[in-house]
Amino acid sequence: MSAIVRFEKVSKRFGKIIALDEISFEVEEGEFVFLTGPSGAGKTTILNLLIGDIKASSGRVFFDGQEITKIKRKNIPYLRQKIGYVFQDFKVLHERTARENIEVALAVIGVAKRDWKKRVNEVLELVGLGDRSELFPQQLSGGEVQRVAIARALVVNPKILLADEPTGNLDWDTAQNIVDLLSNINNEGKTVMLATHHEGIVYRLKKRTIRLEKGAIAQ
Ligand SMILES: Nc1ncnc2c1ncn2[C@@H]1O[C@H](COP(=O)(O)OP(=O)(O)O)[C@@H](O)[C@H]1O
Ligand SMILES: [Mg+2]
Repeated sequence: MSAIVRFEKVSKRFGKIIALDEISFEVEEGEFVFLTGPSGAGKTTILNLLIGDIKASSGRVFFDGQEITKIKRKNIPYLRQKIGYVFQDFKVLHERTARENIEVALAVIGVAKRDWKKRVNEVLELVGLGDRSELFPQQLSGGEVQRVAIARALVVNPKILLADEPTGNLDWDTAQNIVDLLSNINNEGKTVMLATHHEGIVYRLKKRTIRLEKGAIAQ
């Protein structure tokens, strides 16, 4: 196995706030890793550094053999194609059906329309929404909307899936189902990083946990 993600003494400051303080860790290809720690610990900052959304103040970030901290702005869209990101607030389009929300991801990267149906149906099945594809987000439960967001992230076949507080607004049973889904996706070979402050979720699955505290890795 080789590391798909590597952080080398990465610091991130926002003005006087030190969000990350010389963080170093690796994630192996095919691994499932939890990023945990209380609110404000730096979890989202790590994910945002990985997608090139923000720049490190110092240190080096590598993804899939490429140094993200040196990547040119114009190449960030290519980086994003390799990364599926499930955002904290879902970011689904409310005026579009589940299927259309997922199609948007294919349109963005220029996949031919004739190939959409097969690929979208595959991910809909994978997340258990085969019979909900023509419904709008307001007709779906919170857990189902989260499944749409996961399907949308996966349809481009990214090398890694990043999920930021994917169980945030869900009740306990639904949250467990979402984590089980992400675990199944990992079992099929996808690397997964799941950021959560929700400790109960973490203990259920016996997976590696990187625990953050005030921007540093806790022992
Ligand atoms: N854009 C920003 N501007 C200023 N401070 C920020 C910004 N983003 C994050 N921070 C700060 O960095 C710290 C880590 O934030 P974050 O990574 O969002 O934590 P977590 O996701 O673990 O809750 C917090 O103190 C937060 O207020
Ligand atoms: Mg966060």
